[in-house]
This record gives sequence, structure tokens and C-alpha cells, in this order.
Amino acid sequence: MEFSIKSGNPEKQRSDCLIVGVYESRKLSSSAEALDAASGGFLTAVLKRGDLDGKAGSTLLLHSVPGLLSERVLLVGLGKERELDEKHYRQAVKAAVKAVNSCGATDAVSFLADLSIKKHDIAWRVAQHAEVVLDAVYKFDCMKGKAAKDKKADAPKGIKKLTINVVSRADIKPAEAGLKQGQAIGAGVSLAKDLGNLPPNVCTPTYLADQAKALSKSHGLEVQVLDRPEMEKLGMGSFLGVAQGSRQPPKLIVLQHKKGKKGQKPVVLVGKGITFDTGGISLKPGAEMDEMKYDMCGAASVLGTFKAIAEMGLPINAVGIIPTCENMPDGNAIRPGDVLTSMSGQTIEVLNTDAEGRLILCDALTYAERFEPAAVVDIATLTGACVIALGHHLSGLFSNHDALARELLAAGEGAQDRAWHMPMLEDYQGQLDSNFADMANIGGRAAGSITAACFLSRFAKKYDWAHLDIAGTAWKSGKEKGSTGRPVPLLTEFLRQRSAKV
Ligand code: BES
Ligand code: MN
Ligand code: ZN
Repeated sequence: MEFSIKSGNPEKQRSDCLIVGVYESRKLSSSAEALDAASGGFLTAVLKRGDLDGKAGSTLLLHSVPGLLSERVLLVGLGKERELDEKHYRQAVKAAVKAVNSCGATDAVSFLADLSIKKHDIAWRVAQHAEVVLDAVYKFDCMKGKAAKDKKADAPKGIKKLTINVVSRADIKPAEAGLKQGQAIGAGVSLAKDLGNLPPNVCTPTYLADQAKALSKSHGLEVQVLDRPEMEKLGMGSFLGVAQGSRQPPKLIVLQHKKGKKGQKPVVLVGKGITFDTGGISLKPGAEMDEMKYDMCGAASVLGTFKAIAEMGLPINAVGIIPTCENMPDGNAIRPGDVLTSMSGQTIEVLNTDAEGRLILCDALTYAERFEPAAVVDIATLTGACVIALGHHLSGLFSNHDALARELLAAGEGAQDRAWHMPMLEDYQGQLDSNFADMANIGGRAAGSITAACFLSRFAKKYDWAHLDIAGTAWKSGKEKGSTGRPVPLLTEFLRQRSAKV
């Protein structure tokens, strides 16, 4: 998709399709008003007939509107003018793109970024516009066969060029900065989605390592991949315990983006990279087990975020650490009752082999210490309990440092990729007591997402740390099954805010 910024009058644009907003009760936005005037009241007349009421997300495609140079006009409902907020704005942009993309137009000019939304400037509106467009046109069809590809050749080509209009020439510069940012985040989200959607027989730990190497080559990052012998030397007994049940060799991927001041402490992102989670010997039930290919979405979000910040050239030092392996049942797999010794020296009684995410993350958190981090954020599809607590709208946020938690919450708000601060009191730690080791890897059914976070906190004592449980937000199930690319927007915004501060 090719994007550009322009400042011009709607009635003078020559394009396959113009996109303008209409508020509820048929009130025209100012760009719609301009088209209405140029067409001798054509829009007002159509709306009077009752074809569109302006409800957020509704659309109406008009052809051959008199007095215009463009072939089509897409009217997009915005909801009540007073209530136009981030959510309605994104909804309107999404509906517009879906409609234009299937109508036969290959280029369009959007006037939606001209709308005013409380608390947000033109750069934000353009960035969000670009992000929502890229999200809406995303497709994953690389695994479809020839017949499906032939069929696709007959369908409308879809939109290739989108111009985002701004009201004044003074808006062009900030709009271009917003566009660059939106495109970078869009690219990061797409990468995260692709990696998540790939089948687990393709997206193995080795594949993820290769992707990390390719990304560092194309985007100027440093990369290092540790193999089993090196991890053995480091004493990563917990991570390697999980990995021992799989034929696929485990990898520890370390990415570095060094665009901050020399000596500036890095922010470290740690992503859970279980490329398939069968549960191991504590085998999961069969229903929907295919979705456990998404158990590497934390890892994918780290790679996606590094792609985004590299494309933005963000002046910050950042390290990405990805422990990746499969969780399989096997003659050599770990058993319930096994005791593992983590890299930190703490021992862990494995009471359930399906609580494997924390077992690989704990060694990665210990490994993170060597970077003397300013902060560490881990991202993981960690617990089904988090889905029960928060559903699919919010990621769970846990932290040992309130200021860091507030930063991440604010980044989630700004990026419209929100999280919710969950409690992580000492009181819960007792649920991890073990009769045989320093701790157990599960804490019972009650507060499952909290006890998982408590487990991780025992390995994150040496720095400011936060944990994002993305089990409910990283992918969608059902008819729209697919990766969401979350929380790449949150993480990128978090790093952008940090880079602006120093
Ligand atoms: N990857 C799963 C968590 C998960 C389950 C995410 C379903 C999204 C949907 C994780 O490894 C896991 O299996 N967790 C267990 C922990 C339990 C054994 C304490 C869970 O949530 O059931
Ligand atoms: Mn599991
Ligand atoms: Zn898992």
C-alpha cells in the first residue's frame, strides 16, 4: 500500500474514490459539505432519502456525483458529533477501507483525518488512520493452493494508493511524521500477524531464529542466536527442561537496536516463543488445540516491535530476548514431579507441564540481567485464567514498579491497544509453595494469571519489570480466526515515549 499526504479541496480531487464523513442525524462533516456544495446539494438529497443515517461504521457508496472530478464518493458514518472518540474514529476508518477495498477502486483520497477528536493532534490521527488501513487490508493467504489464487485474480484488485488529506498546509509536516510512524507500526503488526498465523510445522524455533536474522540484516539490528550447548553452559535448566520433549532444537534469540546514546541503559523486551503448546505430558484436551500455534505471539510481538522501531529510527537502546521451543509430550519430556534448576539457581517443582511459559521465561529474565536494563517488559500468552479475567479486549499488566506500569498503561491508551493493571500482592506468593523445591510452577486454580506473574516476579527482582499477559488479545478465535499483532502498537508507543524523554 502506497500512502501520501496532501492538502487540497475535496471537490477538486481526481481519484477513484473520495472518503468523507457524515455524523449521525445526517449532519455533514466539512469535507462532505464541500462536496455537497460542488454537486448542487446531491449529498443532502441522497441522505434525505434515508440511505445513510450516520451511525458509526455505516457506509454508502455513491457513483457519478455531479460536479466532481472523482468517480466515486464513499460516505462514512461517524456517529454523534459530540461523541466522536478514538473508537468511533477507528471504526469509521476501518469501515471505509473495507468498503473501498472491495468496490473496484484502486486509489482513494480520505478526508477522515481532518475530523477533530478530543486530545489528539493531526499526527496521531494520521498515524492511526494508516495503522487501521494496514490492519484492515491485511491478508494471510500464503498457505492457500493454486485454485484459491486463481479465484483471487478475478476479484477486485483492492486499493493500492491512499492519500490522506489534511486541512491546512501547516498540517502537512506533522501529518507526514504521523504517517511514517503509522506505517512503521503497521509493518510491525503485519510481521507479528504473519508469524502468529503461520502453521506450527513451518514456524518452528529455528524459523523464528532465521526470521530474526533476516530482520536484523534488513533493518540494521544486531542479532545473536544461542543453541542448546550454550544454554546448557549458562545453566538454563528450566528452559531446557521444557525443550527436551521436542525434536525441534530450542533457540534463544537476542536482538539489539542501538540507536540511543552510548551507555544509555536499554529497555529489554522478553517474548514467550512456544511455537506449539500441546501441554506436554499434562496434555491439553483436543478442542481448539490448533490455536496453541499462537503460543509464540509474545515472541512475534517483540520481532514486530523491533521492526517498527527500526523503521522509525527510534533514538533508544533496546534489547529483545526470545526463548523459543516447543512443548511436546515425548519419552524424554519432563514429567509432573520433576524438579528443574533454573539459571538463577532457584529450583522449581514441575506440577503441571502445561505451565511451561513461565519455565522458559524465568531463564530469559535471568539472562536479561547482563544488559543492566533500565526496564524489562515480558510479553506472553501465559494463562487461560487471564482470558477469563479480562476477555479479549485488554491485556493483563503486572509489575513490580508502579511508575513503569503507568507508562505502559498510558502507551496502551495512546496506541489504542489497551492493558489493565492487575494486582500482584505478596499475599499470592504462598500459593507457589512446594514441599520439594524452592517453588512449584503452578499455584492452583484461584487467581491463575496472578500466580503466574508472581512466579515470574521471583526472577525479576534486580530491575524494574512488567509482564503483559496477552493470552486474550494476541489472536481471535472463531470465524475471524487470526493473529491481531497486539501488543506491537502498545510496545512501540512505550518505547517512543521513552525515547522522547531522554
Ligand atoms: N499457553 C497457555 C495459556 C493459554 C491457554 C493461552 C489458552 C491462551 C489460551 C499456557 O502455557 C498454559 O497452558 N497455561 C495453563 C497454566 C495452568 C496449567 C496453571 C493454563 O492457563 O491453563
Ligand atoms: Mn501451556
Ligand atoms: Zn503455553
